[in-house]
Amino acid sequence: MKKQDYLVFVEILLAVGNLVTGAPTDGLRIFGGQDAAPGQFPYIVSIQQCGLFTCEHYCGGSILAPSWILTAGHCYSYGPKYQVVAGIQNISEKSEWRQTVAVDKFHVHEKYIGNVNPNDIALIKLEEPLTYSDRVQPIPLPEPNSFYSGDAVVSGWGQISGNFFSIYPDTLQFQKSTVLTNDECMALIEAKLHGQRNPYDVNSNVCTGNPVSHRGICSGDSGGPVVGEGVVVGLASYSFIPCGQAAAPSVFTRVSNFIDWIHDHMNSTNATMY
Ligand SMILES: *[C@@H]1O[C@H](CO)[C@@H](O)[C@H](O)[C@H]1NC(C)=O
Ligand SMILES: *[C@@H]1O[C@H](CO)[C@@H](O)[C@H](O)[C@H]1NC(C)=O
Ligand SMILES: *[C@@H]1O[C@H](CO)[C@@H](O)[C@H](O)[C@H]1NC(C)=O
Repeated sequence: MKKQDYLVFVEILLAVGNLVTGAPTDGLRIFGGQDAAPGQFPYIVSIQQCGLFTCEHYCGGSILAPSWILTAGHCYSYGPKYQVVAGIQNISEKSEWRQTVAVDKFHVHEKYIGNVNPNDIALIKLEEPLTYSDRVQPIPLPEPNSFYSGDAVVSGWGQISGNFFSIYPDTLQFQKSTVLTNDECMALIEAKLHGQRNPYDVNSNVCTGNPVSHRGICSGDSGGPVVGEGVVVGLASYSFIPCGQAAAPSVFTRVSNFIDWIHDHMNSTNATMY
């Protein structure tokens, strides 16, 4: 019993640590995923943090419009410069399809207070618009305030190794998954938390899960999409560490709860939607 409590405590601490830094080295992966084909997910981008000489993958994002990317709020931290890379499957390859654009502005939701909390959503305005192609396409938004559950697919360049040894894939990973109902998400998370505060918010969150197999998001998948019926249902927000535990759901920001917020921000800067 004591040992179990201790493990739970570590899991939550790490989950929080991951969200504080958003760093791919701390903890969210697509566990049990498979290689995506080139162009299979034309709406996903790699959001990268840039140092003096190099830029590194930090989070996933989804293309909403040529100059607009949707991601998680915890993917922003004050200081570093950011760039967005679209049109890629192998993150290291210099292919003709690859488009790299600097980030103009990161709009983090005004009510996101950091860590494992609701409203974990952000919009990125790019300095230059992306050019759509077979490999670069937008993903539609869900109906406002809709609640989807059912088949879905998660994609990302997050960690594919175990817990503390971080191994990141070159090739975009994806995983077929199931979006659960709020009741199912609540129950699964409660069962893992053993009485600790449950951060799951029924309006702001949605989760995916598989009670038997070891699957889920991990470090570096943050901000990336879960897509069901052709729309971006959620943005990877947090999960339990170690990643991919059986019966540990992956938690996403429920995009349908933020449609007005998204439109207000995109409209206020005179962006064209499509
Ligand atoms: C990805 O591209 C890099 C650079 O071209 C190459 O070294 C690496 O082997 C590629 N990875 C895969 C999985 O093809
Ligand atoms: C913002 O733009 C969207 C998409 O073009 C439109 O549906 C919505 O009505 C606009 N909202 C406002 C407040 O202008
Ligand atoms: C948006 O466009 C309208 C009409 O062209 C203009 O009046 C308004 O000042 C613009 N708003 C911003 C924030 O640029």
